[in-house]
Amino acid sequence: MTNMETGAGSAAATAAAADIRQNPYKADFPLLATKPEIAFLDSGATAQRPACVLDAQRRFYETMNANPLRGLYSLSVEATEAIADVRAQVARLLGAVDERGRAQASDVIFTRNASESLNLVAKSFAPCVLEPGDEVAITIMEHHSNLIPWQQACRAAGATLVYLYPDAEGRITREEIAAKVGPRTKIVACAHVSNVLGVENPVCALADAVHAHGGYLVVDGAQSVPHMSVDVRQLGADFFAFSAHKALGPMGIGVLWGRHELLDEMPPMLTGGEMIDSVTEQDAVWAPVPEKFEAGTQDAAGIYATGAALTYLTETVGYEEVASREAALVAYTMERLAELPYIDVISPSEAAAHHGVISFNVRGIHPHDVASILDMDGVCIRAGHHCAQPLLTWLGVENLACCRASLAFYNDAEDVDRFIDGLKTVWSTFHA
Ligand code: ALA
Repeated sequence: MTNMETGAGSAAATAAAADIRQNPYKADFPLLATKPEIAFLDSGATAQRPACVLDAQRRFYETMNANPLRGLYSLSVEATEAIADVRAQVARLLGAVDERGRAQASDVIFTRNASESLNLVAKSFAPCVLEPGDEVAITIMEHHSNLIPWQQACRAAGATLVYLYPDAEGRITREEIAAKVGPRTKIVACAHVSNVLGVENPVCALADAVHAHGGYLVVDGAQSVPHMSVDVRQLGADFFAFSAHKALGPMGIGVLWGRHELLDEMPPMLTGGEMIDSVTEQDAVWAPVPEKFEAGTQDAAGIYATGAALTYLTETVGYEEVASREAALVAYTMERLAELPYIDVISPSEAAAHHGVISFNVRGIHPHDVASILDMDGVCIRAGHHCAQPLLTWLGVENLACCRASLAFYNDAEDVDRFIDGLKTVWSTFHA
């Protein structure tokens, strides 16, 4: 038996062991069910949506459409209550509950996306605490959403932006934390899971380090909430952001959770309708949180549908099933990629460290060409800088670009097989 055959045999065992040859989930996703020619491996960019989410969006407009302005007529009351229910659901999802287990819903703010949530912290909270000479520490693997706002905040305050760099396996080590987070560090901002490397960052250790000096921890959970259960208290986060669209919900809905006393103190970023207590000719008094941060009419149907998405993710499927399928899918994909000697997987080497995300390059072939050729076979991956240019620069990746396959529980071994076959086509196209 050749090495390649041995590898394929072991990959087959991985697939069988985790049952990723079976897929009870695709039928729940109209796009996947009606387009079997698609192998969707770009869930890190946005997830597919199950029918229950699309139905919920429609149901809002069909059965309770009114502006949820804490209404004075029953339709508006219904819309208001529906949004309040989702707010409480999100609080429970993030572990934002009091000692009696009651959801601390008012600490959940709805925004347009994780970028807006992180901007809100950098533009409203950071100026309250940052002083000239302070430092903000972020990892080099931040998405631009959790990087540019800190560049701006530091510039405005006369503070310095400091970077933590991972080791060869993508890990931020204790030594790196000790070297970079110190008495001058006022804020640490980090991705819970990297959108390029897929690694989970040591959020608790970062929390301990920054809190030891009286600073604050901001966590970008855009790539973790779709894959794992989150408890903001256990993580030690002071702020936590995520987007609904990566967690099976609609585009255009973001969440910011913050510690109540911090949200209470900081000013709003946007002003206007529904975020005030009272207004005079020359002044205004802000409403309490969360309304203070939610100026204007929100995408109420989107928030309602986000509730349906989170129910599907956490109850219909469940994080345990999500984690076990995704771990098996990643392991299988890594084993199959290892059959192709022209593929360079970007760290980490261990499948279990990837959390659904595998970045790689096909030796000597531009990532855009790889993605375009895969697309001809219906295989969808992302190629480019992944909104993480400083990371790709630091990694020394050619053309400042790489390919990324990102998997979700609704993928199966057949999707991976089609991806591998597509990569063989990519290679043969350039080496005929
Ligand atoms: N942040 C998304 C990604 O990583 C768009 O692809």
